[in-house]
Amino acid sequence: MASSLLNGGENLNLIVRFPPNGHPIFSSNLHNKPITKLSTRKFSVPRCSLSASRPVSQPRFIQHKQEAFWFYRFLSLVYDHIINPAHWTEEMRDEALEPAKLDNPNLKVVDVGGGTGFTTLGIVKHVDPENVTIIDQSPHQLAKAREKEPLKKCTILEGDAEDLPFPTDYFNRYVSAGSIEYWPDPQRGIKQAYRVPRIGGIACVIGPVHPTFWLSRFFADLWMLFPKEEEYIEWFTKAGFKDVKIKRIGPKWYRGVRRHGLIMGCSVTGVKPYSGDSPLQLGPKTEDVKKPVNRWVFLTRFILGTLAAAYFVLVPIYMWIKDKIVPKSWPI
Ligand SMILES: C[S@@+](CC[C@H](N)C(=O)[O-])C[C@H]1O[C@@H](n2cnc3c(N)ncnc32)[C@H](O)[C@@H]1O
Repeated sequence: MASSLLNGGENLNLIVRFPPNGHPIFSSNLHNKPITKLSTRKFSVPRCSLSASRPVSQPRFIQHKQEAFWFYRFLSLVYDHIINPAHWTEEMRDEALEPAKLDNPNLKVVDVGGGTGFTTLGIVKHVDPENVTIIDQSPHQLAKAREKEPLKKCTILEGDAEDLPFPTDYFNRYVSAGSIEYWPDPQRGIKQAYRVPRIGGIACVIGPVHPTFWLSRFFADLWMLFPKEEEYIEWFTKAGFKDVKIKRIGPKWYRGVRRHGLIMGCSVTGVKPYSGDSPLQLGPKTEDVKKPVNRWVFLTRFILGTLAAAYFVLVPIYMWIKDKIVPKSWPI
């Protein structure tokens, strides 16, 4: 039962209830049992306004803008050919975009952290490319997007997901795939995901899920942010979205296994109920990208983060081999 529920493409609606004690309780449409009860204990959060449910000690070496910039300086060379086929297939992409309801070619859509345009290629199957904007902080990733024929008519911009250069109430859809894990302050990015669509517009954030297996969890937490499902729901709900839903996704050969985490593990959507900015108030940005950094500290963080990322090149290969040798009726 459990594994069939976890297979990619299953719709999991997480329902948030606010009982009188004020502690949000998350439950699913599958069992209507609480998934977790978020602690309201106060932690001193150093760099990012993560959920209070998450320990703050994990280093997440690449979850910062400068490290992410350099990470993609190199990864952009192999991203489409080596990284995506292992973690983010066309089939997964199309399933993940389905809750974004790209049901009209005239929709105005922004793809945030659009990178090489892999997800944008899924968007322009439904929407006129003239109506699609790609924004990313990496010029190297965007250079790859610019080379793609179906994206030639899209608007392609450099910019920061936490500070989008668009007016409020401008788009019909906000899409961001595989980028939230690098944002130093994901709640700030989700607040932007609320601000830029029009009333009734949908924001769709596709991203990783946190591993439960100890070794995978160790490397995941060294590398970047692998949010828990409840954290996505919390960020969307706090930003003001209504009708917040999670759809689980994953490569076919994982057979629904989620214990190693997934780099693209869920598609989270919310509907903007009112026009204007998000009611959520946040302080100033936590990360000042213009501040000079100690180059040795930076280099050490970058190397450790990149080594941790290498573990996640091996996991899909391991799962692929398991899928080939373990009979289909057995769990893997
Ligand atoms: C894993 S890639 C995903 C690319 C694309 N969305 C896809 O589906 O293939 C992550 C992208 O997020 C971008 N990124 C990371 N932090 C960002 C930020 N703060 N603002 C904008 N883009 C960011 C990176 O440059 C990179 O291109």
